[in-house]
Amino acid sequence: MISLNNENIMLEKYNKKYLLPVYSGTLAIEGILKSLRLGKNDKVLITNVVCYSILHAILNAGLIPIIAIPSNGLTLSKKEIREIVKKEKIKVFIAVHQYGYEQEIEKINNLIIIEDISQAWNIKLNNRQVGENSDYIISSLGNSKPLSNGVGGLIMSNINFISKFDIKTKECRNSIDSILEFYYPLTINYKRIVKKANKKVSNQRKNANFFKKLLKIYNFIRLIDENNTIPSYHRFPIYVDDIEYDNILKILDKCKVNYQKEYKNKLDKLNVVKKLDIKVVSNNNIKEKCLLLKTNNNYLNLKKFEIEMRKHYGS
Ligand SMILES: Cc1ncc(COP(=O)(O)O)c(C=O)c1O
Repeated sequence: MISLNNENIMLEKYNKKYLLPVYSGTLAIEGILKSLRLGKNDKVLITNVVCYSILHAILNAGLIPIIAIPSNGLTLSKKEIREIVKKEKIKVFIAVHQYGYEQEIEKINNLIIIEDISQAWNIKLNNRQVGENSDYIISSLGNSKPLSNGVGGLIMSNINFISKFDIKTKECRNSIDSILEFYYPLTINYKRIVKKANKKVSNQRKNANFFKKLLKIYNFIRLIDENNTIPSYHRFPIYVDDIEYDNILKILDKCKVNYQKEYKNKLDKLNVVKKLDIKVVSNNNIKEKCLLLKTNNNYLNLKKFEIEMRKHYGS
């Protein structure tokens, strides 16, 4: 009989044998990269949209990041992955399901895949289970994440990586000058955080689906529309043509729909990228502007947004 209060609830869900809780998602990635014992010129692929701390995890592990700008603005296609992995001789791909959208995974001989589900609780993938084609699953358990312990991270795998993992590491992204110290092992009540994640995601998904249904009919708005993926994160990305951008902002403001403009940090524009001369690979020429609609609000009247959109643009 499995107690739902322990880690088996996670191992069963993802069909994995080993689980290790750590202090942060960043440390989860750094820890895996270090445990792989790669050479110092080995390359790790990420996209330019992911959380900048993933870039730091790669640098801390002493490896070389290669940043790819996806042609759809968010995730790489299998073809893009194949081409970049071959051309750049990539050893590890960190596949992030950004904003809860599926990052496709291409199995390529000797390519190690770390699947990052920090923003993707209970997402549905097209033809596979989460973790099925990757070597490691990691998740941040930070405050804003669906699966949240306030602080923390998680690694799961069928590879017995734990013996190679440096459990003496006491660092995490926030702890260097923090008054808190997060000792290993972190104790996590998985049953509790799973229950909270389900509730959080169901509200975010409801709002995301409202935005999706309403906005997909307008030809000046592009959505990332992976067929079976249901967005689950607290940001819903839309790509708006330049001409209508200011208008859309006015309507969102009027209807009190919260949003964030563009990403705060584009990896390829970061100082560290310029200073270390990190390679950025791109065949992207997207002209639209990205807006991130917030889905974690308890909107009182989203219907007003629908009415305003129809008033302006018809239906
Ligand atoms: C997809 C993803 N992975 C990893 C991290 C890093 O996790 P942590 O904040 O727990 O270090 C973040 C952002 O915080 C993230 O969005």
